[in-house]
Amino acid sequence: MKVVENVNWNYKQPVEIIFGSGRLSELEKTVGKAKAPLVVSDPTFVRNGLAGKILSVIGGEVFGNISANPDVSEVNECAELIRKNNSDVIIALGGGSTLDLAKAASLAVKDISVYHGTGKDVPSEHIPVIAVPTTSGTGSEVTCVSVLTDRSRGIKAPIVSESFYPKAALIDPELTLSVPPDVTASTGIDVLCHAVEGYWSKGHQPICDALAVGAIRLVFEFLPVCYAKPQDKYAREKLSEASVMAGLAFTLPKTTSSHACSFPLTNIYHIPHGEACGLTLDYFTRINAADERTVKLAELLGYDGADELADAIYDLKKSLRLRTSLADLNLDDSQISELVRLSRHPNMENNPISITDEILTDMYKKLSS
Ligand SMILES: NC(=O)c1ccc[n+]([C@@H]2O[C@H](COP(=O)([O-])OP(=O)(O)OC[C@H]3O[C@@H](n4cnc5c(N)ncnc54)[C@H](O)[C@@H]3O)[C@@H](O)[C@H]2O)c1
Ligand SMILES: [Zn+2]
Repeated sequence: MKVVENVNWNYKQPVEIIFGSGRLSELEKTVGKAKAPLVVSDPTFVRNGLAGKILSVIGGEVFGNISANPDVSEVNECAELIRKNNSDVIIALGGGSTLDLAKAASLAVKDISVYHGTGKDVPSEHIPVIAVPTTSGTGSEVTCVSVLTDRSRGIKAPIVSESFYPKAALIDPELTLSVPPDVTASTGIDVLCHAVEGYWSKGHQPICDALAVGAIRLVFEFLPVCYAKPQDKYAREKLSEASVMAGLAFTLPKTTSSHACSFPLTNIYHIPHGEACGLTLDYFTRINAADERTVKLAELLGYDGADELADAIYDLKKSLRLRTSLADLNLDDSQISELVRLSRHPNMENNPISITDEILTDMYKKLSS
């Protein structure tokens, strides 16, 4: 099978990456001279005192009002605090929800909704963000994406902007040791989706391809270990490595069908982000078997074709007790039609094989039976 490659491509990666267990100790040096730092922290680290410990070293204030799948109103609240304090650097400590909120708030605009789901260009002026991820993960610490929810308008959607690249990513895998197994499973399958979707994306290119293949191998090897033995430091380090590699693998090519479907699945049925993406990844792997590069990816990973890769993804989800069906939701035809309609996010157009409403209806019906 002849594989058609993109022969013209651009690569850019402006984020300084500082990686290694225990390197949170380098935060002060990474922040440098700042008059008014703001620590934007996942509530977990406000409760366990880590955010306070950071404050005692670098000074400033903490913002901790962040929900999973952060809402535009929380971004606006954080931006108001930034304007009031004249904050000059943001330290974002948490999972993708925290990082995304901090990146969007760094614009310090009055109402982020102006840019959410509207296509309006995001201003280039922003406060620098030092991203300290605590899940493996979204890769948000190296991406130019901020995914926000607007509960009042019923939408979840990414905003993409050069302004959202953090200044630095300080990745200390020790911070992920406390992630519970169900969150490890869901966030870990998100890593797999980023890498697989980045690879088969229409926007693929060779540097991101290499990162994707490397990240996929690491996920298959180390995600099951992190799930079964949360305190295995080496496995956590390798999964953190996979997460940042996968982030780099998709931020330029962009994600595709599984991420497009995840937005309504999370928004309406509250399925966690990674689990929602993973739910359809094996389906789209089978559909994308008609794409030469998807077959090549399967072969590079040692599988005999795309169906075998899809089987391996399904088996991995089963072993992590992740959702492989929607049957428990008892969806009726109108709910399935709504899911099909809301899955038509622009990321769907980035899938290598054209995904029709009929394909989506068939997939959601099979998942619901
Ligand atoms: N910006 C991007 O490039 C990008 C990419 C993919 C997904 N996302 C978005 O990121 C969000 C999901 O982020 P996530 O999957 O990292 O989950 P999350 O940030 O919502 O965190 C999930 C849960 O884990 C807890 N948690 C986080 N770190 C922990 C730790 N070290 N120990 C114990 N508990 C911890 C949190 O308190 C929360 O309850 C979604 O909104 C998703 O759409 C963004
Ligand atoms: Zn994701």
